[in-house]
Amino acid sequence: MLTQSPRMLRVFDQVRAVAATDATVLIRGETGTGKELVTRAIHKRSRRVDQPLISVNCGAFTETLLESELFGHEKGSFTGAAGRRQGVFEMADGGTLFLDELGETSLNVQVTLLRVLEEMQFRRVGGQEPVPVDVRIIAATNVQLENAVEEGRFRRDLYYRLNVFPILLPPLRERREDIPLLVRHFLTDVAEDYDLPPPTVTPPAMERILAYGWPGNVRQLRSLCERWVITAHGAPIGLEHLPQEMRGDRPGEEAMPAALAVDERAPLKEVLDRATAQIERSYLQRILHRHAGHLGQTAASAGITRRTLYTKMKEYELDAADYRR
Ligand SMILES: Nc1ncnc2c1ncn2[C@@H]1O[C@H](COP(=O)(O)OP(=O)(O)OP(=O)(O)O)[C@@H](O)[C@H]1O
Ligand SMILES: [Mg+2]
Repeated sequence: MLTQSPRMLRVFDQVRAVAATDATVLIRGETGTGKELVTRAIHKRSRRVDQPLISVNCGAFTETLLESELFGHEKGSFTGAAGRRQGVFEMADGGTLFLDELGETSLNVQVTLLRVLEEMQFRRVGGQEPVPVDVRIIAATNVQLENAVEEGRFRRDLYYRLNVFPILLPPLRERREDIPLLVRHFLTDVAEDYDLPPPTVTPPAMERILAYGWPGNVRQLRSLCERWVITAHGAPIGLEHLPQEMRGDRPGEEAMPAALAVDERAPLKEVLDRATAQIERSYLQRILHRHAGHLGQTAASAGITRRTLYTKMKEYELDAADYRR
């Protein structure tokens, strides 16, 4: 997992700290931010590393099927249950169970899950005997669980049970300093796979890449890099290689609003402060990039003193070295 973002480096510290324990972990982050990667990192560093890591996407099943997926079922317990089947709790025994998209589960399943987590034993669907298990739970969700709790779609008691060690993965647009690093990594990686020369990125293209909102986060960036390696065929990646929504007619105009997250539950002042900070940070990143990390030129073009620029860069955790070419 690559990063140079201070927020992500703190996440790495959390991963290291929690991996050494058996604590339940709740990972939150938008799609493509690395929830699965973090899960694997925790399992790999835990004492359970030689035991299975089993993942189940809770959002991909109907209620009945999810129960059977989680807890298994006895022969003939429901229509279509031909034989006895092991659930993921049983398969993960001794190891780690990753409950992905947990926010998507029905209230019924949530009740059962809570009981299983409290007692560390479960019953197969259609079974009588409680089966004891020893699993470490990592749950992931890309929804605002607190909202779901407030709206009655997610049980408060289960939320508290899971929220022992929360890890929040910031979206890519809030850690843009990772973008050049990831682009370089993915381009090199994919080029090697396809036995093609790794393409460079022209400065105007990189400017758009940096300014874009990246709703699909790292996964989206990775796919685009793959596409660029194939279409550029060794030539530098320019504006013409970027998808329409990244190009826009005027630089950045389009990407800005996508990058702004407005939280209507916060007081206006907080929303405005946050928006200002977001715009300021994004602006600084772009002019730093335009001036290749040259502080004098960057300050001059922003119409601020070097000292102010320096203070702001510290505040936003920006490093001129990341923009040198
Ligand atoms: N920091 C990183 N460094 C390198 N690759 C990363 C990083 N973060 C994510 N990726 C890559 O991005 C892709 C998406 O990551 P992952 O599957 O962990 O996301 P996710 O949060 O589980 O997404 P979803 O909510 O859609 O399931 C993967 O290919 C992963 O390898
Ligand atoms: Mg995932």
